[in-house]
Amino acid sequence: MALTSDEVLEALKQVKYPGFSRDIVSFGIVRDVRIDDSGTRIVLAPPAGDPDLVGKIRPRIEAAVKDLPGAGALELVTELAPQAGRTAGPAPSDSASGAREHHGSPQPVAAGGRGPKPIPGVRSIIAVASGKGGVGKSTVAANLALALRTYGRVGLLDADVYGPSAPLLLGTEGAQPEVTSDRRITPIEAHGIRMISMGFFIEQDRPVIWRGPMVTKLVAEFINNVEWGDLDYLVLDLPPGTGDVQLTLAQQLVMNGGVIVTTPQEVALADVRRGVKMFGQVGVPVLGLIENMSGHVCSQCGHATDVFGTGGGEKMAGELEIPFLGRIGLVASVGSHGDKGTPIVEAEPDSPVTQQFRQIASELSRAV
Ligand SMILES: Nc1ncnc2c1ncn2[C@@H]1O[C@H](COP(=O)(O)OP(=O)(O)OP(=O)(O)O)[C@@H](O)[C@H]1O
Ligand SMILES: [Mg+2]
Repeated sequence: MALTSDEVLEALKQVKYPGFSRDIVSFGIVRDVRIDDSGTRIVLAPPAGDPDLVGKIRPRIEAAVKDLPGAGALELVTELAPQAGRTAGPAPSDSASGAREHHGSPQPVAAGGRGPKPIPGVRSIIAVASGKGGVGKSTVAANLALALRTYGRVGLLDADVYGPSAPLLLGTEGAQPEVTSDRRITPIEAHGIRMISMGFFIEQDRPVIWRGPMVTKLVAEFINNVEWGDLDYLVLDLPPGTGDVQLTLAQQLVMNGGVIVTTPQEVALADVRRGVKMFGQVGVPVLGLIENMSGHVCSQCGHATDVFGTGGGEKMAGELEIPFLGRIGLVASVGSHGDKGTPIVEAEPDSPVTQQFRQIASELSRAV
């Protein structure tokens, strides 16, 4: 029986996208498979941000296909990634057999070179950043997203490639978002919002690969492929820190405003200043500073007082001339609800901490 293209596709599902937990077929990298007397022709569409992909995966493709009876000579054709305002077809192939690659024209400028473009249907994007890791940025982002439901349709985008935590926080671990053949990604629904996390796509034990601007461009490209539908607010959980990775992401996504999370312990003016500078560099207005894990919360009114005396986050915001959005107390249930996949805003709608998140969400909705 003759080899079918479905059988070849099945074999190609053994080939993982380097650094990702998913295979090249489910990522829509394989555009076409043709088998005829001269052999097997596979059309690949690498993302613009990863022009070297075909070179990297070619040996694995060859290994996956070579033992299929009837595969014949293997021909790999590289299709150019679609560019804004222009659609690319497969590059012309030459007729001789044997494994080789074709590049019809120079790779288009990577996503960064095109500048940010708005996400269709998404009214406003609020990025949550922090100067340091572990300050509760993801917890704040998830709870703010849920608190923003009062004001419209909400999405949460976990762009933290180093420590994606939205699946844990929203109870969507192990979800496999659908990816179409043209690489459009369907977000997952959870607690009445839509969410997507880099955690659904990246390989857990390969942190090393996530360095450098190329990777960031690739991530931005995947992010731009999410089918959000109509959203009033998209909350973006950036990787911690304010270095090149964050800057590149901020450059490639159109953001309406940025929020910086800090803790009273780390009231390090320099960190927050770097965050303000980062948003400034990409022309994104800073909506304000949130102080998380504030020392003492009044059990009666939920008001958090600064145990460090003289103002902490509020003072810092004043010095940097950015709005102070509020304090979230250091409350054990904030962490424990997050660990169980239902953030406190959903689990304890009447708690003082929830009120605090609602207050901040209301200010954000006004500000954007
Ligand atoms: N207000 C709070 N009260 C108590 N625990 C909190 C609070 N905010 C966050 N936490 C806990 O602190 C830990 C770190 O929070 P989270 O993962 O949100 O931080 P992050 O800044 O996103 O970290 P990373 O830099 O790793 O991305 C988690 O265990 C979380 O449950
Ligand atoms: Mg985080």
